[in-house]
Order: sequence, then structure tokens, then C-alpha cells
Amino acid sequence: MDVTQLLDGALRDLAVQQDRAQRTITLIPSENSSSALARVAYLTDAANRYFFADGDDGARRFPAGRAAGHVETHLAVPLLRHLTGAAHVNVRPLSGLHAMTLLLSALASPGSTVITVDPRQGGHYATAALAKRLGLRCLQIGGPDPYHLDLEALTEMVIRHQPALVYLDISHGLFPLNIAAACAAVRAGSSAARVHADVSHTMGLVLGGLLPNPLAEGAHSFGGSTHKTFPGPPKAFLATNDAGVATAVGAAQYDMISSHHLAGVCSLGIALAEFILTDGPGYARTVVAAAQALGAALAAAGLPPQAAELGYTGCHQLWLDTTPAGIDAPTAAAQLDDAGIRVNVLDDLPGLAGKPALRLGTAETVTVGLDAADMPYLAALMTAAIRSTRTATAIAADVAALRQARTSVHQLAPDASSYRRAADLVATIFGPSLPAPAGAR
Ligand SMILES: Cc1ncc(COP(=O)(O)O)c(C=O)c1O
Repeated sequence: MDVTQLLDGALRDLAVQQDRAQRTITLIPSENSSSALARVAYLTDAANRYFFADGDDGARRFPAGRAAGHVETHLAVPLLRHLTGAAHVNVRPLSGLHAMTLLLSALASPGSTVITVDPRQGGHYATAALAKRLGLRCLQIGGPDPYHLDLEALTEMVIRHQPALVYLDISHGLFPLNIAAACAAVRAGSSAARVHADVSHTMGLVLGGLLPNPLAEGAHSFGGSTHKTFPGPPKAFLATNDAGVATAVGAAQYDMISSHHLAGVCSLGIALAEFILTDGPGYARTVVAAAQALGAALAAAGLPPQAAELGYTGCHQLWLDTTPAGIDAPTAAAQLDDAGIRVNVLDDLPGLAGKPALRLGTAETVTVGLDAADMPYLAALMTAAIRSTRTATAIAADVAALRQARTSVHQLAPDASSYRRAADLVATIFGPSLPAPAGAR
């Protein structure tokens, strides 16, 4: 085995990954792109350090990560407190599912009951199985249509089963849950049950203030991934104003998470700062406006997404059944992929009875610089790919040109002073022996 060759191949693969990312458009609603500035943290020594302290005190046990730990305690956590209005924020979970595991384990003990959202209603596919593995009894709530929970049934379920926790987890959702109404429905059945809103999918819309803050709506806690609609690194956090919840989460976290990927937290802190400095609320508004514009443009081209009667979407997601146009979803997705447009094919979207369909999302398009005005053209490129009215190569060239014609207005400009600092930092990491780039020789 020639390991040098394998290593060269791996670096070539990563170069291909990077090059493709710059020439393609990703409409996968659970993905996003984080800025080069936010990614710099992963190149630093922070990536290899532990940090156990909650503040500056206590960093002595593991002193090597102290400066990066300062980024956690003085940037990431304060900015999250500011954006969430929460007194307590825990940034230790590695991802949305990890935050879910931590929260379930903190707020429900083996044998107790937890109510979650039925996956046929858009609830996350893993929640019930995960709850079961933790020894919890899991009940699931559905709804009268694919977009709303049955709140009367929720109250009845709460009265009958007195759950420790109601965990609101929407993964496939076109219209964000009315969390205030869900909290009221739970309270009508029990004063003891806690409510957690897992807003992994809509985190950027919540932090951008476009969707209501779940804590203001009556949830005891909320949290989720920071890499779906929020344009940050793959991490997650939990936020609460309830001291009891914060203590329970902190105690469970102490037992369940040691390495919490300190560089990821530093990256999150940088992404949060960029979000604030580059109009996070404007980003959130543009993501939803772009999704609605893309829905309307696809419909005008004869490919109407679901929920036309409701304006297609109230968030970043669109669901597109291509079969009425005579093309099945896997074929449509493969043709889009050849044309440089990435989408999900899913067979568990609510209301589609197991039929494979495309799940689209506009968050990453906005992060990389597109807006609602670009959506008719993007819809035309998508329609041409799905209907095969142009060659994939020709469409891919137009997709790459569109991608390259836009620069993100929701990331700091490359001439910002922070980028100069980052460039100096990268130079110190690779050292003076770094050869000049091929083009510069
Ligand atoms: C509601 C919800 N919770 C948890 C997750 C899992 O998040 P992650 O992939 O960051 O672990 C998802 C992912 O789609 C989600 O929608």
C-alpha cells in the first residue's frame, strides 16, 4: 500500500470537494456554508484542545486550551445569550442529535414519558428510537393536515399520560410550528410537563428574529443545530431561562460530553459575530422570501411545489413532487446533480404518502449571495435540468456562472480587518516553509 499516494489522492479529493462547492448550488435544507473566517478556527491549535471550564476559573486543569476557551466564554456564549435572550446557554453538544440526546437525558428519567412529533407530521426520524434507547416511554403527536399539530389531541395526551417532557422536533416542515399554541396546549393538561423546542432546521430564522423566540412563546428551553438555516459550523446549543433546566442540562452534559470540539465553538462564535455584523435579520427575511419566490417560479414553470394554496412555505423548505410532470424524484435529482444543483430525495415528507419527492431549501443560496430576485432564473435552470430541455453541461456552466457572479452579503468582506488577521494566522500555522501557490511561481 502506497500511503503517500493515498494521501495525495485524499488531498485531491478535498480539492475537488472545494472546487465543486464553488461551482454548484446546494438546495439541501439541512446544510449551509460557513465563511472562510469561521472555518479558520479549525486550522488552529484549538482543534486539539480540551476545555472544561465554564468561565476563566478552572481552566488550570486543562490549561492548553485556555485562549481558545476564552473565545467560548467571551464570544460564543455571550453572543448566543444576546441573540436568544437566554440566561443559560450550553454550547457543548456536537450536533442537533447530540443536543437532543443531552436534553432528553437531562429532563426525562428512565420510565418517564416524553411526547414528540410523529415523523409522519415532520418529526425527526430518530427522536422516538433515541428516547427508547434512553429508557423513556415515547408517545407521538400528529395533526389534521401535514402542516399543523392536533393541539386538542396534545392536551388530551398530556392529561392522560402526564409526560415529563414534550419535545417539539420538526425536521420536515413547511410552516413553522406555533410554539405558543403548543405550549398552551401542554399547560392545559399539566403544569409539570416541560416543553423543549428543537429548532435545528429553523435556527437561523429564529436567531434572525423572523420566527418567534421559543422562550418568549413559553417553551422551557430550545436549541438545535447551528449549520442548517444558521450559517455556522456543525455544532448545536441549548438555551434556557429556567435555572432548574440549566442545572439538569449542565449535570447531564458533564457526564455525557468531554471533548466538545473547541475549535467548533470558536468557529460558532465567529459565525455569530458575522451574523450580527452582516444583518442576520435581513438574511433570515431573504431566506424565506427566496423560498417563496422559488416556489412561485417553479409553479409558473409547471412544477408546483406542495402547499400552493398556502404560498408554498413559511420557512426555507419547499417540497416538490415531480411525478405529475412525468419524472420521478430520483431521476430529477440525478439530472439536477449533473447540472450542478444539489437536492434531497426523501420518501418520508408529510402528506406525500411515502412517495419520493425533492426537499429543497434556500438558506445556503442566500449565504453564498443569491436572493429572491435570482429565484426565477434558478427555477428556469432547475426546470431545464428536470425536463432535459438543455444539456447538463450547458446548465452546469450557467449554474457556475451564477454562483461566481454573486458574493455573499451575509459574510464579512475579504478586505475586512478580521480577514487580514486570519490570513496572518494561517501563515503562522503553515510556517515559512509553505511553498508559493502554483499560479504564483
Ligand atoms: C428537529 C431536528 N433535530 C435534530 C436534528 C439532527 O441534527 P444534526 O444533524 O445536527 O445532528 C435534525 C436534523 O435534521 C432536526 O431537524
